[in-house]
Amino acid sequence: MIICLLLLKILVVLLVLFVLKIILISIFFYREIQAARAKDPAAKSFFEVLLLYQGLHALISHRTAHFFYKLHLFFLARLISQISRHFTGIEIHPGAKIGKGFFIDHGMGVVIGETAIIGDSVLLYQGVTLGGTGLEKGKRHPTIGNNVVIGTGAKVLGNITVGDNSYIGANAVVIKDVPPNSTVVGVPGRITKQDGKKIDISLDHIHILDPIMESIQELEERVKKIEGLNSK
Ligand SMILES: CC(C)(COP(=O)(O)OP(=O)(O)OC[C@H]1O[C@@H](n2cnc3c(N)ncnc32)[C@H](O)[C@@H]1OP(=O)(O)O)[C@@H](O)C(=O)NCCC(=O)NCCS
Repeated sequence: MIICLLLLKILVVLLVLFVLKIILISIFFYREIQAARAKDPAAKSFFEVLLLYQGLHALISHRTAHFFYKLHLFFLARLISQISRHFTGIEIHPGAKIGKGFFIDHGMGVVIGETAIIGDSVLLYQGVTLGGTGLEKGKRHPTIGNNVVIGTGAKVLGNITVGDNSYIGANAVVIKDVPPNSTVVGVPGRITKQDGKKIDISLDHIHILDPIMESIQELEERVKKIEGLNSK
């Protein structure tokens, strides 16, 4: 009988703690829950998002991990982030700075690097990477502006900036700065829309023809021709 009473008391305490936790999360993450409801047409209710959306759970864990990261408790911060990754499939480095109204839809496979900075009201889909390009140190991850949407599987790499209100298409690989109000698609990413107008500026500077190199090659060919004529 005493054991039963003790178990009942423990259950009541756990229930009270759970309700308290839910109330606190609802207050502190109200904007994020509302963002999820606004950005995911499949979200049916406040409580569905609160209890079942791993994008929100990953963010809650990240806020805790980031708190410890700022206190230089790096191991504890990383431990929280890794446990969260295990349950949500979303890996956010504790050092990443994330603004308000952030939402990760579906979530699985998202990776956000240590020096990434994310503005307010940003939406990421599953499989997005905000990563570095190599083994460089210092600020090596992207800075994402406000109201940016990054499509599923997109990779945004290096210390670049994605301007406010921009869209990164699904599976795009972005390695150059993106101006505000732009839509970028493809590999490497190219701008297809800016300020509401359709355009096609290639962000791929690797394959653009070099006019100076072209002139030098032309001169070389002419010199060869002249030398050939003189030797006859
Ligand atoms: C890029 C995106 C935002 C559309 O933007 P949009 O301005 O409406 O673009 P449009 O549909 O007018 O397409 C513009 C051009 O880009 C192309 N395009 C669109 N999305 C593309 C993509 N992800 N990759 C490559 N090309 C793409 C279109 O074919 C079109 O090409 P064209 O001009 O040669 O015909 C959208 O296609 C996208 O990728 N959203 C991501 C959504 C997502 O990840 N959802 C996951 C839900 S689980």
